[in-house]
Amino acid sequence: MPSVLVTRHVPDGGLEPLLSAGIEPVVRAVDTPLTGPELARAAAEHDALVVLLTDRVDADVLAAGARGGRLRVVANVAVGYDNIDVAAARAHGIAITNTPGVLTETTADLAFMLILAASRLCSSAEADLRGGRWTSWSILSYLGRDVTGATLGIVGHGRIGRAVARRAKGFAMDVLHHARQPTGEPGYVADLDELLERSDIVSVHVPLGPATHHLIDAARLRRMKPTAVLVNTARGSVVDEEALAIALEEGRLFAAGLDVYEHEPVVHPRLLAAPRTVLLPHIGSASVETRTLMARMACANVVAVLAGDPALNPVT
Ligand code: DGY
Repeated sequence: MPSVLVTRHVPDGGLEPLLSAGIEPVVRAVDTPLTGPELARAAAEHDALVVLLTDRVDADVLAAGARGGRLRVVANVAVGYDNIDVAAARAHGIAITNTPGVLTETTADLAFMLILAASRLCSSAEADLRGGRWTSWSILSYLGRDVTGATLGIVGHGRIGRAVARRAKGFAMDVLHHARQPTGEPGYVADLDELLERSDIVSVHVPLGPATHHLIDAARLRRMKPTAVLVNTARGSVVDEEALAIALEEGRLFAAGLDVYEHEPVVHPRLLAAPRTVLLPHIGSASVETRTLMARMACANVVAVLAGDPALNPVT
């Protein structure tokens, strides 16, 4: 019987594809990422790993898997896979899989929630209320910016970006999008700087890679309107956090809504102190239904590969 390590407990039902295939996985009891040496040892000892985005499956881990002679698949319980050295996996013939599709709507819901919450300054308003600083209704307090009718610029035209665009239609927004390749769809803006200049709200939906690291940097933040709102639910490193904090401090950007950070779970201290921010702890896909589906999808990929079939959701 193959040996499968699931690096955390997953929601009830998440392991069902493995159990149905007669595979009783080893489930790690603690809810912390494995260290590099721990992951390398696991890679050498198991036929398959089901990992989270906080497990760094780097070249050393994959080399250990290859030396161990067992590891055939690493299934990431996430659609993003910047935690995995895919090129090294390919070199060793180890399949990598992810979980596209099942988290699209849940993550788009959260992105839209951040669009609304950041535009309407919800975090600072709530913090004042909880802190006893709300003393009277005031015509000048907590003045946000309207979302309805605003121009939304979506950076990236994948599943989640398109799902955010669908929600925006319900708010009568003018929706622009930018992608590296022309999409042929209405609202396409070839030049990212132009999209930033024209948008009242910018929502980031690109995967993290060499081409997107600090895609939204200090220069690009300067392109945005001082009344604009930036939302990031993709990966923290797509935005230069320090530059963002400075733009907020200097009033060159109205507000920001973030779910992801460059060095999770550490949040840049300047961002924590910056005004008009809504900061969430990477919960884009965090619903019972979606996290269960993500775990099931990862396990189904393991079952397929261990059965000698192609991966269902291979990362290439
Ligand atoms: C992903 O899947 O990549 C998200 O960041 C976590 O749901």
